[in-house]
This record gives sequence, structure tokens and C-alpha cells, in this order.
Amino acid sequence: MLNLKPGHMAALPFVLLFGACTGPAGSGDTEAVDPPAQIEPARPTRGDKFTYANYDQVRISHIDLNLDVNFDEKVLDGIATIDFTRIDPQASELVLDTKDLTIRSVMAVDGDLAGTGIDFSLAAADEMLGAKLTIPLGENLTRIAIDYRTSPQAEGLQWLSPEQTAGKLYPYLFSQAQAINARTIAPLQDTPAVRMPYSATLRVPDGLLPLMSASQGEIDANGEYRFEMPQAIPSYLIAIAVGDIKFKAINDHIGVYAEDYILDASAEEFSETPLMEEANAALYGPYRWGRYDLIVLPPSFPFGGMENPRLSFMTPTLIAGDKSLTNVVAHELAHSWSGNLVTNATWRDAWLNEGFTSYVENRVMEDLYGRDRAVMKQALSLEDLWRSIEGAARPELTQLKLPADLAHPDEAFSNVAYVKGQFFLMFLEDRFGREVFDPFLKSYFDHFAFQSITTEDFLDYLNTELRAENPDLVSDDELHAWVYEPGLPDTAAAPQSDAFDKVAVQQARWVAGEITASEVQTADWSTHEWLHFLNSLPDDLSGAQFADLDDAFSLTGTQNAETAFAWYMQTIAGGYEPSFAALDGFLMRVGRGKFIYRLYQALEDNGRGDWAREVYARARPGYHPIAQRRIDAILIED
Ligand code: BES
Ligand code: ZN
Repeated sequence: MLNLKPGHMAALPFVLLFGACTGPAGSGDTEAVDPPAQIEPARPTRGDKFTYANYDQVRISHIDLNLDVNFDEKVLDGIATIDFTRIDPQASELVLDTKDLTIRSVMAVDGDLAGTGIDFSLAAADEMLGAKLTIPLGENLTRIAIDYRTSPQAEGLQWLSPEQTAGKLYPYLFSQAQAINARTIAPLQDTPAVRMPYSATLRVPDGLLPLMSASQGEIDANGEYRFEMPQAIPSYLIAIAVGDIKFKAINDHIGVYAEDYILDASAEEFSETPLMEEANAALYGPYRWGRYDLIVLPPSFPFGGMENPRLSFMTPTLIAGDKSLTNVVAHELAHSWSGNLVTNATWRDAWLNEGFTSYVENRVMEDLYGRDRAVMKQALSLEDLWRSIEGAARPELTQLKLPADLAHPDEAFSNVAYVKGQFFLMFLEDRFGREVFDPFLKSYFDHFAFQSITTEDFLDYLNTELRAENPDLVSDDELHAWVYEPGLPDTAAAPQSDAFDKVAVQQARWVAGEITASEVQTADWSTHEWLHFLNSLPDDLSGAQFADLDDAFSLTGTQNAETAFAWYMQTIAGGYEPSFAALDGFLMRVGRGKFIYRLYQALEDNGRGDWAREVYARARPGYHPIAQRRIDAILIED
């Protein structure tokens, strides 16, 4: 284990942003990353080990999906038509990723054998990667049609029965392709290194509206919905939602989709999205995707948000009623620049997506709500980052450039990618100054627009565009420490929040018994102050102290999901049982991984595993397949 910050060592699990990982990390089948001695980019680094695709030889240039959305059988069923180009003229086969797909046939659409079947082979499935689909390539062939269907167990799709929706009348389907679940939706090259435009035709039962991460469906005379995504995107951004979904406009090109019960509240909660777009565009150039809509999904959506282009997918736990959690909108919108426009080429470079996005999110929040709120968020994020670093199973997982032997892309999405990445950019901003750094980032998004790049591509660009002109502001060693070394460099900013200092003073007085909880001055506290107060409580609170807080502030059962999560994490550690009935309700109601993975892990770690398993047995059928896999691993009995 790492010893980076004296006095902060604890036997914590490695905290992924979306849960904890206790198992041994790393399959050890490839060599660990060998950081270059100099900051000179190491090459080659393009390899994505989480795909079978031979994308250096043949590349998909377009995919069209023509699918029945079959709620009776819980499958997507139809034809994927794939155009491809040969990068290597000698290439003799096209290798695609599939997972839990039934492949009925592969046909040549053009070339010498147009209209005839191709003798494909589907390999035995790997548990993580799925089954490799190999298609021999005849002369002049550039387009194939694959007749296939998905599985009801597809990890990238959740099929909800009418009873599992708020309206109770219609079923619901939504997808989640990031990181490697697009292959459970369609056969394709499932790597962020490959980008392609896509189109789709969907047939859905009467009364249901289908949506995709594309131009929204034109319905034709046959009742089929037609979608176009003309811009080249990586496979993990292909997305679909189908349900009894309504729309409310926020302005002429921004709006919200949701089930009726939460539509108005969502439009109100997200009413500042146009301001966020303006702030983002003012900093980093125009929004390039046409419309920007949000869809508020059912509560089993396992993330806070997902940046599907033109249509961010959002958890309903953001609808707090006071706009206190809308940084997640700023985050998903920011991905329209960092992530969707400029994309990490491999999951080892995930910080290029998430670190940049966290940085941009914070800049936009500063523009809208002022520096104090932005700094509070930085401080909260930094507290989380330290927990991740201290609990890291392997030091290499705290590098920005992740090692070659990542066991699963999930490992890439810890606070390291998000917060260390953000603080690295804050470090650069501080050294170069905003007047220089802001235009640099803007030019970075222009320069690499619609490309997938590695960490080394970014460093090259930094060297030529910024460091060449300002050679003395950042040293090679400093950069190397940020990108290729574990832990947090001591050149990281230490956010100073006066508001948090005041919270700490009051908290100390309450802990010392000088004042009761009802005497703590909380009237002007924002959610951030509450989170700081709750997260920094000492770990030896008595039952009476828990009860004092709960009586004064009704924390048990609070409607703000972030505050509720922070409180339950404390009450689990402190064994405060009066909160457990409400915690049970929370776990039954909320499927957002960031909360529930850590709550189940905390229950398991604090001797409440049996209680957790009992709740989970009831909650599991409602959770998303991604969440089921993660929590199964946490609560496994040996
Ligand atoms: N792209 C992520 C969600 C994701 C990560 C899905 C990894 C699958 C694999 C999204 O942009 C995200 O970061 N969401 C956060 C938002 C938060 C950091 C503001 C979330 O879901 O909590
Ligand atoms: Zn993100």
C-alpha cells in the first residue's frame, strides 16, 4: 500500500468513484506501464486491450441499426449494417466485439459476393470481453449486414416492467454503453479509439417514445422512428431509451425528457442549463452538436449522469428541488467538449475524459455561482481523492496514465481520473495563468476535435503549444510526477474555503459538547457545507450524539440524496440503528452506483453484511445489471 501522506494510512478499499474495489487488482498478463524517464511521450500507446477488434487494420466508418424493440422478450432484434475501410490493404478479416449476442447471419452487401452469406465465426465468450466475431473479407467488400438479437441479460440494457416505472402503465428500456457494454447492444468495434457516425431505425410498441443519442426520431409512415448521428462518435456513446416519455422545452435547443411525474420538476431543476452552455462555450468554443437535451431516467439508472451526445442521461436523484446538485448537468454538458469531441483513445487515458470534464465543470460552476461555491466543491473532491489514494490496492492505479494491466475499465473511473485529473489542470492553469491557459485549452479542443487521443498526444500538444513559449513555468519532473507517478504531487493546490473553516469551528464546539446540535448555526448552509460537516465528523461519535444531530436536523430520511448518502455512511460506521429503516428505503429506491456500492461496502465492512444481504435480496431485481454485477461482488459470501 502507498504511504504518501503521513498520518492518513488506513486499510481502506480502493475507492472507485462508482464504488469500492477490494479484490486483487490486475490480471498481470501484460507488463506494467513503463513511464518514460523524460516527459517525452512513450510510444506506441494506442493499444486498447479491452477490445478484440483489429481496428489498426480495418475500421468501421458507419453503422446503421434497424431494430425491433421487443419488450415481451426483452431483446433488440434486427440488422446492423456496417461500412468499413481497410487501413491495411492486406487485411483479410474484420474482427468485431459482441457480448451475449445471437448472430444469425452475416451477409455481404457489396463487393463480388454481394447478397450472399459470409461464413463468420463466433469464438467462445470471455466473461469480461464477450465473444469475438470474425468475418472473412472477400474482394471489394466494404459493407456487411449482420442479423442479430441481444440477450435479456445484456449488461448494457435495462428492461423495466410497467410496475417498475412511475407511471405503471408502460414498460421502459434504457441503455448504458460506457465503458464496454456497447457490444451487448450491437456487434461493433467496441473501443473508444474508433469513431463513427451512426443511424438507426427503431420499431417500438404503440404509446412508447424512443430516443437516441442522435437527432431525435422522425416518425415515418410505417410508424418507424429514424435517427441520425452524423458526427463520428465512439461506440460507448451510442444510447437508447424507450418509454412513456414526455418532453418539456427549456429554450429553443435545450429541453428535458422524463416520465410525466417528474417532468415539470426536472425542467425547473435544470432551468440553468442554457447559462451553463453559454459559460462553457465562452471558454472553450461553440457547442458543436446541435440540440442539447437531458433525459431524467428511472431511479435504477446506475450513474449520476452519462454524457450521451445530444441527450445526456440523468439520475432522478438530482431533482432535489433547490438546484443544489446541478453540477452533474454542468459535468455531462462539459463532456460535449472533453470526452465527446476529444475522446480518450483507451481506458488507460480515462482522465482525458473525466479529469478535463471535472475541471471544465468546476470552471462553469464558478462562472455561474461564484468562486466560493467552486472552491467548496474542490475541497470536497480533494477529501474524496485522498480516500481513494490511501485505499489504493496498487499504487499504479493512482497514476493519471494508468498501467497496461488494468483488470477492467471500471478501475479507470476512480477519483484519480476525476479529481487528480482536475487538480493537474488546475496546477497548469495556476502556473500559466488563465489568460494563457484558457485559450490553450480552447485550441486543444479545436485541434483534436472529433479525434480519439492518448495522454501522450495531450503532452505533445502541451509541449509544443504551451511549454515551448513558456519554458520555465513547469518542469519535466513536475509533469512526470502528475502524469506517471502515483499519489498526489505536493504541487497540488490546497483549496481554502472560509465557509468550510466556519463549519469546522462549529463542528468542533458541538463535538466538545459546548453547544447542542440545535445551536449549530446551519441556516445559511448549502448542500456543500452539509456534506463537509457530515464527511468530517469524528469516527467515535456516541449514539447520543447521533441522536442529537438527527433530532435537530432530521437527517434520517432527508430528501437530498447526497446528504442522505453522507449521513448513512456515518451512521453505518457508527452503528446508529435508528437510521437503518430509512437506509433500507434508500437502498430500495435508489440505484445510483456512487451511493449504493459504497453503502453496501460499508455495511459489509462494519459487520452488517447479513443485514445488507437481506436488503439486497429485495432490492436486486430492481437494480441495473451493471449494479447487480458490482454489488454481487461486494456481498459475495465465502
Ligand atoms: N461518463 C461518466 C459516467 C460513467 C463512467 C459511465 C464510467 C460508465 C463508466 C459520467 O460523465 C460521470 O462522470 N458521471 C458522474 C458525474 C459526476 C462526477 C458529476 C456520476 O455519475 O456521478
Ligand atoms: Zn464524466
